[in-house]
Amino acid sequence: MPDLATRAKELVNQLEERGTLAIRTIAMPADTNPSGDIFGGWLLAQMDLAAGNLAGQIARGRCATVAIDGIQFVRPVHVGDEVSIYAKLEKIGRSSITMNIQAWARPRNEASAENVINSKFVFVAIDEEGKPRPLPENAETNMVYRRLPKD
Ligand SMILES: CC(C)(COP(=O)(O)OP(=O)(O)OC[C@H]1O[C@@H](n2cnc3c(N)ncnc32)[C@H](O)[C@@H]1OP(=O)(O)O)[C@@H](O)C(=O)NCCC(=O)NCCS
Repeated sequence: MPDLATRAKELVNQLEERGTLAIRTIAMPADTNPSGDIFGGWLLAQMDLAAGNLAGQIARGRCATVAIDGIQFVRPVHVGDEVSIYAKLEKIGRSSITMNIQAWARPRNEASAENVINSKFVFVAIDEEGKPRPLPENAETNMVYRRLPKD
């Protein structure tokens, strides 16, 4: 059994691996499929919202989802679970932003969460006509400073 400091370091590393916590919500009965499990489409919508929120921050403007790749449903999500969506920046292109998005679910009355779905989301920064536009210079730093107060 590792000592407390080692365990704490492991947990911090695991959290960093997930990326930035972008959205946290509760799975509700209205979000279920006919079998009573949470509908995969609802989860994907939460992931799209989370990724789009960060993409807008990085791109400082309007963005569109251009691709959702390699969706992996690892475990089912149940009504009442606390669902946390984490986003990790993978690549910044000329107009595109690629992020790894993970969802973790914590049963309402339990302490720990489990990974439930993973996917890669690609967003493109677009102009008023809906055409790709170049990302701002040093766009990736826009995400780093997201928690800092305004000057
Ligand atoms: C997003 C959109 C404006 C891009 O237009 P486009 O003509 O394909 O643009 P481009 O070919 O110039 O590609 C733009 C960028 O997207 C990337 N891209 C395009 N398709 C991609 C795909 N399937 N996967 C990964 N990246 C992709 C390109 O590599 C390029 O990246 P870069 O600028 O960083 O080098 C257009 O595809 C669109 O309007 N799609 C619909 C978006 C939408 O409505 N989303 C919501 C779904 S309901």
